[in-house]
Amino acid sequence: MRIVRTLFLGLLLAAVPLFSVQAEDAKVDESQEAPAQSESTSANDAEALFTGRCAMCHQLPEPGMLKPKQWELILVTMQQRMQQANVPPLQAQEHDMILEYLTTHARQ
Ligand code: HEC
Repeated sequence: MRIVRTLFLGLLLAAVPLFSVQAEDAKVDESQEAPAQSESTSANDAEALFTGRCAMCHQLPEPGMLKPKQWELILVTMQQRMQQANVPPLQAQEHDMILEYLTTHARQ
């Protein structure tokens, strides 16, 4: 019984620093978002979609590392990877927004 209680306390104590770190992260995010408001909303949406959908299984790839045509092919492969991993594949509109974002920032 005593061991259980000790473990429980240990968990509680371990959880406290985690929460405070999250709170700090949230603050940082707010301040980073402010300057981006001058960009158009759809560009922000596309970037959010890209960062949200393309960093689930690996680090976020750098758009400038590939040419537009290569991104097009990569997206086909990634759709298959998502299906295999039971991650909802990109909808047509999401696919187009991400491809446009990648193409805009791609290596020319
Ligand atoms: C379901 C998991 C998953 C998601 C989500 C995912 N990928 Fe991948 N990705 C992989 C795997 C697995 C690999 C390893 C290479 C392979 O199997 O094709 C990879 C490799 C890559 C590579 C390296 C390709 C190469 O030939 O070395 C790029 C670039 C890439 N992904 C881009 C993306 C982009 C852009 C998105 C968002 C649209 C995305 N990934 C989303 C699983 C994923």
